[in-house]
Amino acid sequence: MALDKKYLLTTRQMATFVAKGFLRFDDVVPAELNERIMREIDAGGVKASRAATPLSQCYAGTAVKEMLDMPEVQGMIQSLVGPDPLFDHQAVHVRQPNEAAAQGMHGDSIIDTSRQAFDVQLMYFPHDVPLEMGGTLVVPGSQYRRINESDIARYQNFIGQVPIVCKAGTLLVLHHGIWHCGRRNQTDKMRYMFKIRLNPRVRQLRLWNTEDLEQAQGGFKPLFTRETYVTDDIQSILERQEPWFENATGRLEIVNRIKMWRFLTGDDHFDAHYWLTRIENEPQNLELA
Ligand SMILES: [Fe+2]
Repeated sequence: MALDKKYLLTTRQMATFVAKGFLRFDDVVPAELNERIMREIDAGGVKASRAATPLSQCYAGTAVKEMLDMPEVQGMIQSLVGPDPLFDHQAVHVRQPNEAAAQGMHGDSIIDTSRQAFDVQLMYFPHDVPLEMGGTLVVPGSQYRRINESDIARYQNFIGQVPIVCKAGTLLVLHHGIWHCGRRNQTDKMRYMFKIRLNPRVRQLRLWNTEDLEQAQGGFKPLFTRETYVTDDIQSILERQEPWFENATGRLEIVNRIKMWRFLTGDDHFDAHYWLTRIENEPQNLELA
């Protein structure tokens, strides 16, 4: 059955994903379903399918499938990687009580550093995660800084990092390139996080609810203005700074984000405040007046 459009992501949510590399949906899975999934995990019942199996054929008869079939969850999946993406791999991450060390910061399985098409990782938190449980740590906006797995593992903390402290039933959906790690669990309870990676089977072109695209994008604004930081049009969302940006890196990330937005919208002329256009105006490409 086709998914009701109201569950698809909005244009502003998509732009936020492009800028930050993830979206967060707090407390979206009902408590009763969280409890059943926890029981399945504890019983070892959450079995992975073979890589490249269509997601619709995975997890038959399980509570995990019920969660994946929720319209809210289908809305995020379909908006980002299209209908019925391929299952890539899963991981039930368990952080032991009172463990001595955190996981090193890393990017997952990055073996292609140039393509624009992206995988998503769903991270599902089946129980409450208070700060002392560590939570998953993400570095917003890091997804275009391609690193080779644990290249950056020696670094413990990053300016702007966000620990995911959340209620049971929270989901994150992340670009595969984002820097992240599991933080140290300092409680006497186990911490669980269930992750599924998905590969798109379709070109990632305007898959979300684009009814608001034109309105959200606004017109072309040639100059970088003070209002950039206080409006919520797409150009402004794509230019929002992360705390770890300094002048030069911030510009690079804005260019990376604009390129991704062009890829997702199919609009090769989209720009945010002239950032990309100015480097495309090479004299040999311009007609003489
Ligand atoms: Fe990871």
